[in-house]
Amino acid sequence: MTNTKTEKPQVICLDGPSGVGKGTICLCIAAELGWHILDSGSLYRITALAFSRQFPGKAVAEVDESQLADIAKNLDVSYVEKDGRLQILLGGEDVSELIRAEEIGNLASQVAAVPAVREALLARQRAFLQPPGLVADGRDMGTVVFPDAPLKIYLTASAEERANRRYKQLKEKGIDVNLGSLVEELRQRDERDMNRKTAPLKPASDAIIIDTTTLDIDQACREVMNWVDKKIVHR
Ligand code: DC
Repeated sequence: MTNTKTEKPQVICLDGPSGVGKGTICLCIAAELGWHILDSGSLYRITALAFSRQFPGKAVAEVDESQLADIAKNLDVSYVEKDGRLQILLGGEDVSELIRAEEIGNLASQVAAVPAVREALLARQRAFLQPPGLVADGRDMGTVVFPDAPLKIYLTASAEERANRRYKQLKEKGIDVNLGSLVEELRQRDERDMNRKTAPLKPASDAIIIDTTTLDIDQACREVMNWVDKKIVHR
């Protein structure tokens, strides 16, 4: 068991595929513990947005790896809390909504497959580890970014269920999408994230696997909190 009252901040890793609920679960665990959050996917999404602006109309494969890494290295990004909401600023511009677009998510998955981009974002991600602790969500939190974390959770759910959840979210926002193409896009993204050479999406050997297919968000948060209680002394 790890004592969070020691000086070194602790990290809880939540990894898993797109649409599995990592972001929401991360928020609820961080709120319960009063810890910081790392939404590592947002860094890849911001890199993708910056790429699309710097190289309009170009495919990731058409641009030099070093140029892609420079974009990631030089991101002027900040996370600020405003009116109880976390704002993501790129060069002072609020891009919180913009980076959630499906096409930016797909582009993020492509830039994330470039080893030099991953390397360029590594130190930036580790800098989020501040007292009293961090809840980090992504694809390689437990395998690459924080391999010594005392608690690593790998969340899974069927592609159909994940696409269903996304479909409902988009519908609520008034965005019309086709469920079949959402399932297909998720499968393609899983395929790319799981099969890339650098830091592919996979559970760390010491990760606890939780299938959320039949769990609602409260049940999933309870399940993770049970593991937090077992592995981390926090009260
Ligand atoms: O979690 P997300 O959907 O916001 O992530 C967007 C893309 O970024 C995802 O398809 C893969 C990539 N990503 C990654 O490769 N490693 C991470 N730690 C987080 C995200």
